[in-house]
Amino acid sequence: MSKKNGVIFVCRNCGNEFNKWQGQCTACNEWNSLQEITNHKSQITNRLQKSKRQNIEVVNLSSIEGNFDKTKIIFSSKILEFDRVLGKGFVQGSVLLFSGEPGVGKSTLLTQLIGKIGGLYVAGEESVEQISLRVDRLKLKRKGFDILQTNDLEDIVEYLNRVEKLPRILVVDSIQVLVSSELSSVAGSITQIKECAFRLIELAKTKGVTVVIVGHVTKGGNIAGPKLLEHMVDVVLYFEGEKNGELRFLRSVKNRFGSTNEVGVFKMNKNGLQEIRGKNLKLLERDGVSVGSALTILIEGKRPILVEIQALVTESFSQIPKRVFLGIDYNRGQLLMAVAQKNLGIPFYKYDVFVSVTGGMKIKETVADLAVVATMYSSYINKELRMGNSDKLVFLGEVSLLGEVKKIREMAKREREIKAWGVKLAEVKSVRDLKKFVIQ
Ligand code: TYD
Ligand code: MG
Repeated sequence: MSKKNGVIFVCRNCGNEFNKWQGQCTACNEWNSLQEITNHKSQITNRLQKSKRQNIEVVNLSSIEGNFDKTKIIFSSKILEFDRVLGKGFVQGSVLLFSGEPGVGKSTLLTQLIGKIGGLYVAGEESVEQISLRVDRLKLKRKGFDILQTNDLEDIVEYLNRVEKLPRILVVDSIQVLVSSELSSVAGSITQIKECAFRLIELAKTKGVTVVIVGHVTKGGNIAGPKLLEHMVDVVLYFEGEKNGELRFLRSVKNRFGSTNEVGVFKMNKNGLQEIRGKNLKLLERDGVSVGSALTILIEGKRPILVEIQALVTESFSQIPKRVFLGIDYNRGQLLMAVAQKNLGIPFYKYDVFVSVTGGMKIKETVADLAVVATMYSSYINKELRMGNSDKLVFLGEVSLLGEVKKIREMAKREREIKAWGVKLAEVKSVRDLKKFVIQ
C-alpha cells in the first residue's frame, strides 16, 4: 500500500487500512472510525520479517508421530462450564480472546480460573490489593496465584524471558489498557491493540503459554477497537448476560480446536460466579400460569433449556409506539408482530410492545417464535393462555409469514424435556389456533 509520508488511515473497528481519510469505512461500514497513523507499519513488519527468517524448518508429521501427549497439550480449567465451551479445556500455547461488556464479570471468572488452576494474572486495571481482596472473598487459593501489575507489554515479555518456571496460563486484563512502549500511540488505540495482541500471540506460540486476553465490548457488541483481534486469536469467547440479572452465559464464537455451539451457564452472586451444571436447565421466574408469559424450549449446544418469554402490550401514548425486544432479534420481533396483527387482530399501531426472555438469554433459534406471539397475544387480551387446567404451556415452533407454525428440529429431545419438567405442549398448527387457549 502506498503511503504519503508514511501516513495511513486505519479503521478503529475492523483494522482495514486506507490511503486517505473517509467518513465511513468501506470495509465494515462503521462511521467516523478512521484514525490517522504515522509510520506504524514499519515497526511491526520489521519485526515480523526478522522473526520469520530465523530457524526456518519444515516438520514432517510422521517424525512427531506418537511423540506428543494430548493430555499434556490440553488442560482443564477445572470449571466444568468453562471446559464445556472450550471443548475439552485449554490448548497449550493457544490464545483466547475473552470479551464482554464492562461489569459483566470477566475479571471475576478469570480470577476464579487462576484461583483454581494457578497461573499469572496481568492486572492492568486493578491493583494487587484489589485482586487479593477478591481472591479472599471468592475463597480461592492464594498459592499458585501470581499477579503482575502492569500496563506495559514489555514487562510481560521481560518477565516471561527471565522466569524459570513459565506459567501455564496468562490472563491479560485487559488489552485496552495495555501499551507497548515501542509505539507512541495511546492505550486502546488500534495500533497499540494490534501490536500488543501480535506480541502476546508470539509469546504464546514461542513459550507454549496459554494466553487469555480480556477485551471490553462496545455498546454495539463489537470488541472495542478492532474486530481484527478476532481473526488473530485461536478462540473467541463472549461472556454475556443482563447486568442486573443473575445469569451469565459463556459462548464461543470462534474455536480453532472445537465446536462453537456449546454454552456455559453461570449465576453471579455474592460468592462470585457459580456454575449451573446439569444435563438440562430451567430458567423460570415463577411457577404457575400468568398473563403475558409463555414457555419454550431452546437447545443450546447439546443442552435443552426451558425458558420463559414475557410480553407487555400496552396502550401507547406516543406518536411512534415503542417496540423493545430484549434477547430477541429486533427484525424477527417486528415480523412476529405483523403476523400477530394479521391473524389475531391485534392493532399494534396504538400499542407499545415490550418482550423479554428470562435470565437475559439471547435467543438465536426461531423455535421461540410461537411463544413470542403467544405472550404478546396473552398480554393484549389480558388473559392467561391455558388448556382447561393449571398446566403451564410450552409453545414450540417457527412462525411463517402466513401464520403457519412450522416443524422444528430435535422435536423428540424437546418433548422429553416437556415430560421431565411436568409442563404441557400446546398443539398449534397456525397462529390463529392460539385463540383456543383463552378460557372465557
Ligand atoms: P467484574 O468481574 O469486575 O466485571 P468485568 O471485569 O467484566 O468488568 O464484575 C463486576 C461485577 O460483578 C460487579 O458489579 C460486582 C459483581 N460481583 C458480584 O456480584 N459478586 C462477586 O463475588 C464479585 C467478585 C463481583
Ligand atoms: Mg474487569
